[in-house]
Amino acid sequence: MSLHPLGQFPNYRPRRLRQSPALRRLVQETRLSVDQLVLPLFVRSGKKVRQAIDAMPGVFQLSPDELAKEAAKAYALGVPAVLLFGIPETKDEKASGAYARNGIVQQAVRLLKNENPSLLVITDVCLCEYMSHGHCGLVDKKHGRVLNDPSLALLARTAVSHAEAGADIIAPSDMMDGRVRAIRAALDKGGFMDTPIMSYAAKYASAFYGPFREAAESAPKFGDRRGYQMDAANAEEALREVAMDIQEGADIVMVKPALAYLDILSRVKREFGFPTAAYAVSGEYSMIKAASAKGWIDERAVTMESLLAMRRAGADLVITYAAMDVAKWLGK
Ligand code: PBG
Repeated sequence: MSLHPLGQFPNYRPRRLRQSPALRRLVQETRLSVDQLVLPLFVRSGKKVRQAIDAMPGVFQLSPDELAKEAAKAYALGVPAVLLFGIPETKDEKASGAYARNGIVQQAVRLLKNENPSLLVITDVCLCEYMSHGHCGLVDKKHGRVLNDPSLALLARTAVSHAEAGADIIAPSDMMDGRVRAIRAALDKGGFMDTPIMSYAAKYASAFYGPFREAAESAPKFGDRRGYQMDAANAEEALREVAMDIQEGADIVMVKPALAYLDILSRVKREFGFPTAAYAVSGEYSMIKAASAKGWIDERAVTMESLLAMRRAGADLVITYAAMDVAKWLGK
């Protein structure tokens, strides 16, 4: 079409529909609702521990008792789901803590589901927090390389141990190739045919994860994650990653980070039409916190605008550290 479509609407005057808040709401295309929010939480061992994370004001490493309180608060505000990350007491080169029957995440899941069966408990499945070297899979020490295929069995074992503890959704974030298939097969074999997988499908090697690595104590001790996470320059590759995960059995696909990757979110939603999650990652949260602490931006307005943009781009659900604030702002 050579003519802009608006050229055919000589009487169009957009301002007519912008005259009052009620009118604007009436024609609003996208909404953010509390039902769509997921709150990430960090759990560590101990009692009455609320260890602040410097780079993420308002976010804490919580012992299970405190975690239960935090989850209850979120649920009372209308937040339907939490995403759990564990910080184990000890780390090794097999990530034993990731799949231990009584590992920190497994304990936390049992406790949360026991206290409130209606709260959706999503577990992040990865090995980096449990590995002494901080990588997301097994490492060939001689060459310092992450071993893809040998890591799959450990990831699958981790996923099953989470499901056994009562996890509602399994969320693999490791980015090993073939892990969704391995996890799906192991869950099915364990009798968890109905446990959905939310895969971190398009996960970029991003500097926006900086604050998280302090929070989860999971920074790699050598090298980086570029060998398995995606290059920020690539979009087509993201579609292949998503296609692969869907083929392997993912029920929900995630794009991460969110704000700098809205184009990816939009293409993933259009191309596949699958339930799509956006992860507003630690760095996105910290930047807003820092600038608003300086009085340079309006925390609430910028947070709401960012999350709405993720919805507009195609996200069905949004994972955000600000979920409780947002729930309050939305007025339940
Ligand atoms: C684990 C994992 C990471 C995040 C979620 N799961 C860190 C990483 O890949 O380095 C980042 C989340 C955030 O920054 O908020 N692999």
